[in-house]
Amino acid sequence: MAVHKVTTVFSICLILIHASKLAHSAMDPYKALNIILNPNGTLTRLSIPPQSPPSPDPTLPTPVLSKDLPINKSNHTWARIYLPHQAQDHSPNHKLPLIVFYHGGGFLFYSAASTYFHDFCVRMAHATQSVVVSVDYRLAPEHRLPAAYEDSVEALHWIKASKDRWLRHADYSRCYLMGESAGGNIAYTAGLRAAAEVENLKPLKIEGLMLIQPFFGGTKRSPSEIRLAEDKTIPLPITDLMWNLSLPFGVDRDYEYSNPTVHGGDKILDGIKVLGWRVAVFGCEGDPLVDRERELVKLLQQKGVHVAGKFYEGGRHGIFVGDPSMSVHVFNHLKTLY
Ligand SMILES: *[C@@H]1O[C@H](CO)[C@@H](O)[C@H](O)[C@H]1NC(C)=O
Ligand SMILES: *[C@@H]1O[C@H](CO)[C@@H](O)[C@H](O)[C@H]1NC(C)=O
Ligand SMILES: *[C@@H]1O[C@H](CO)[C@@H](O)[C@H](O)[C@H]1NC(C)=O
Ligand SMILES: *[C@@H]1O[C@H](CO)[C@@H](O)[C@H](O)[C@H]1NC(C)=O
Repeated sequence: MAVHKVTTVFSICLILIHASKLAHSAMDPYKALNIILNPNGTLTRLSIPPQSPPSPDPTLPTPVLSKDLPINKSNHTWARIYLPHQAQDHSPNHKLPLIVFYHGGGFLFYSAASTYFHDFCVRMAHATQSVVVSVDYRLAPEHRLPAAYEDSVEALHWIKASKDRWLRHADYSRCYLMGESAGGNIAYTAGLRAAAEVENLKPLKIEGLMLIQPFFGGTKRSPSEIRLAEDKTIPLPITDLMWNLSLPFGVDRDYEYSNPTVHGGDKILDGIKVLGWRVAVFGCEGDPLVDRERELVKLLQQKGVHVAGKFYEGGRHGIFVGDPSMSVHVFNHLKTLY
């Protein structure tokens, strides 16, 4: 795959630059995202975000080891596993919590190898002394939803059955699903699906969901979407296009995948309450998605789910991964759960 050398980190930064160059009213989301939609429904992505190789060599002094393993070769899904180096010095009985991580990118972009998410996972594994499994799921529009959800649940079954030596350092009874942006949406939906089959997943036991600026939508604009319609990171034409390219054909944004509040919320939320999962939703006022995230918190509260809304002033979409001083809030919250 040709890696285009862009002077700034793609994604948020690239979107920001392109979006601010274009007149607000004439904003072309294809140009801003640097993509071409082909007649056969595939996407040509003209900027591939920078990637990092894994660091599997235990003789190197890196604080966190990482390696890639296939999940399902027929669907080209795989995972990058992160193991704190110190874990190897512990006795086999001393196990670390397990975080299953889903990267963001509007369901269209990025992979578990992207430097942006790789660096975040390294910092998280180190700061919280956790084993992290970052899932590389199939992207839209080549594979529309629910493909990413199916891959994400398949990843949980794969972890459950894995005989990998690194995963032996993970405490399967202390598992958290985490995702950022579209990955937060995926962690939520994978969580709903996993809650419906907890017996099948044993000994893997999910204790909670960590949703970092999860990407949700709806046909009716929220106040923060209106207030921040011309946001430099994710203006409405971009989020609208992301939904158009990722939702199944023929549905609108008031579909259960994009809008978790339709039909009064999913029935399985009652099950999540009984399971006692801890849910945390991270957001900030400078993100057009913030009101949807608050709505999700409200829904979960109404359902009696144990949920913490962690909202911050200012900021922008992507800040909890992109700004290490903000990632610390996520890591510190995790440590209170351990
Ligand atoms: C779809 O079209 C693009 C651009 O013409 C081409 O590169 C790609 O191979 C095609 N993919 C399939 C699956 O036909
Ligand atoms: C991979 O996916 C295919 C298609 O869903 C399935 O038939 C196969 O059993 C899966 N392989 C593994 C190793 O899970
Ligand atoms: C793998 O992909 C095939 C075809 O795209 C799909 O039918 C199947 O459900 C996928 N497997 C999983 C586990 O999602
Ligand atoms: C999304 O799809 C709707 C319905 O097909 C269309 O009206 C709208 O222009 C599309 N928006 C974008 C940004 O592609």
